[in-house]
Amino acid sequence: SSSGVTLTAPVNIALIKYWGKLDETAIIPTNDSLSFTLSQDDMCATTTAMTVARGVKSKFWLNGKEMDLGHPRIRAVVEEVRKIAKVQGTDETLLDLPVRIASINNFPTAAGLASSAAGYAAATAALGALYGVKGDLSRIARIGSGSACRSISGGFVRWIAGSTSEDSIAVQVAPENHWPSLRWLICVVRATPKAVGSTEGMRRTIQTSPLMPARIASVPDKISAITKAIQERNFRAMAELTMQDSNQFHAICLDTFPPLFYMNDVSHRIIDFVHDYNRVKGSLIAGYTFDAGPNACLFTEQENFDELASVVEALFSDGVETDFVKGMKPERKVD
Ligand code: DP6
Repeated sequence: SSSGVTLTAPVNIALIKYWGKLDETAIIPTNDSLSFTLSQDDMCATTTAMTVARGVKSKFWLNGKEMDLGHPRIRAVVEEVRKIAKVQGTDETLLDLPVRIASINNFPTAAGLASSAAGYAAATAALGALYGVKGDLSRIARIGSGSACRSISGGFVRWIAGSTSEDSIAVQVAPENHWPSLRWLICVVRATPKAVGSTEGMRRTIQTSPLMPARIASVPDKISAITKAIQERNFRAMAELTMQDSNQFHAICLDTFPPLFYMNDVSHRIIDFVHDYNRVKGSLIAGYTFDAGPNACLFTEQENFDELASVVEALFSDGVETDFVKGMKPERKVD
């Protein structure tokens, strides 16, 4: 007989970026990072994990396509969950059974929208539940993809870099209902083909960027300042710190040799637009951040959302896939 469990994890958007590993296997980052996890019904991955009868083959599917279960990252996650479950007393006959894992994203995977973060968080949650693992799961998700550890929790989440596999964990700094007026607008910019992946990109930055040590040294103050801004729901401070950190991350990418071009011309036009828009409005009401790709994550507060979304759609219908300018609803608390 077989038993299975299905769980979901949303995408997270980094406000202070993770970029750089001290340890590539354990995925220990060079600095803390801080993100916001979208709500379950926005952009998420759903993973089913089930044990199957002895003799049946273990398998892994991503969006319906069979993948290699021998891939070092997914393999490491499965092995780590089993190791912890064993220590916690899970029946070894269950742990020895073959396992099947199927993961589906409800948004375009190829768009480069933190799909691995949601995917590994959902896979970790499903495997953890399947084997009855108790306690922190962020350490396990981290082994799959660094940013995945932040999707284990909702709301604002800080990944504490730590220095070992045990103490490199993600912790919630404010719950999902803390800032209900905050809204996100994800603009999928037509991707430039063949960007360097984040693992290779980070390695190259660590090895070649003379500016990187200065960035690493500047992160602790940024983390404290943005945590305070979030606690106070100070939009201006939060937005400034987020935009500046996104720009610094992309500056580090240009300082890498050979350089990493993640944003493109449309991304740069969106940045200019946000600054112009804020200037015309007479106050800082919109912000942006970009990960390792050209897509823009814009944010604003509820009262400004509809106007921002329609202006962006109108201005960028050229380079932005308007069928995927997605407005994220604030998480609502069910009373
Ligand atoms: C730019 O988590 O995808 O999105 O640990 O190698 O899997 P690996 O990297 P990944 O890197 C994400 C980098 C980023 C910034 C961030 O999410 O903090």
